[in-house]
Amino acid sequence: MDNKSIFINICGIAMKNPVMVASGTFGFGQEYAGFYDINLLGAIVTKGLTFEPKAGNPPPRICETPAGMLNSIGLENPGVEDFIAKEWPHLSRLSIPVIANIDGDTVDDYHKMARRLSSLEGLAALEVNISCPNVEKGGMAFGQDPESAAEVIKAVREGTDLPVIAKLSPNVTSIQKIAEAAVSAGADAISLINTLLGMAIDINKKRPVFHRTFAGLSGPAVKPVALRMVWEVYEAVKVPVIGMGGITTWQDAVEFILAGASAVAVGTGNFLDPLAPIKIIEGLKKYTAAQGVRDIGELIGSAHLFTGVKSRFK
Ligand SMILES: Cc1cc2nc3c(=O)[nH]c(=O)nc-3n(C[C@H](O)[C@H](O)[C@H](O)COP(=O)(O)O)c2cc1C
Repeated sequence: MDNKSIFINICGIAMKNPVMVASGTFGFGQEYAGFYDINLLGAIVTKGLTFEPKAGNPPPRICETPAGMLNSIGLENPGVEDFIAKEWPHLSRLSIPVIANIDGDTVDDYHKMARRLSSLEGLAALEVNISCPNVEKGGMAFGQDPESAAEVIKAVREGTDLPVIAKLSPNVTSIQKIAEAAVSAGADAISLINTLLGMAIDINKKRPVFHRTFAGLSGPAVKPVALRMVWEVYEAVKVPVIGMGGITTWQDAVEFILAGASAVAVGTGNFLDPLAPIKIIEGLKKYTAAQGVRDIGELIGSAHLFTGVKSRFK
């Protein structure tokens, strides 16, 4: 049964709970539909989409690390037209918001993606990936400089009336400056973090494990960094923040909400336990009831009160 205390609305995206699934860890939903009714989620974020299909990077593409994993998928995806023809029909039948994650080699690619996807009846929002560390061009390169981040967000903003979520990279010196630039350019919300740049070396081959040398670290190992960045961005901008990075339990989700996240996304946690998002939703219901919280919105950013910053949603 739906529980009103955990309803949340982020820039017009109405969700029956604040638990989403992070881009690239949930495909287009169908693999997980065998585990549970995916309409129970707050929202789905698609795998990153590009205008043309992308084959991705050569294997190996993943490698386990202590408390996490490295990936170098390289944005393998079927391209926007194939997505519309083959994936959108089943996604559009879901009763929950579907958010398309978009990427591009150039600023114009992002604009074209925004225009094309805006023609889809029922798509809830665009999440603009300016943070992928695993591609030759675009991706993270746009998200490491305030000016280029703003340029991409402006191009997307001009191509759509849908809510625009800027997905930020943690591989920067000041996450606050990037967030501020994205919001000035028209972002309605910020999501963070994408993966942290890392690497692994094969000691038998005496060479880096990944063809592109560096890869993206995710999972519980990155959680303290992600939480710190959500905290910082909450203090820097007035738009809602979607927090992710190492969330595997409802307690993790509560920490992100108290740090300033209006919603959270589960990424690598889906690989550890496909039911993780559902367990987190159940945990949040019990937590709000036990704490006497009638609206989860009351909790957003409330840990800042102890440092003298007023929760901006009160
Ligand atoms: C295998 C894999 C593929 C990913 N693909 C994408 C992607 O296509 N677009 C994107 O914005 N983020 C992508 N991400 C990043 C996640 O959405 C998320 O931001 C990151 O992994 C941190 O969350 P986590 O620690 O819960 O996994 C990917 C992550 C993983 C592990």
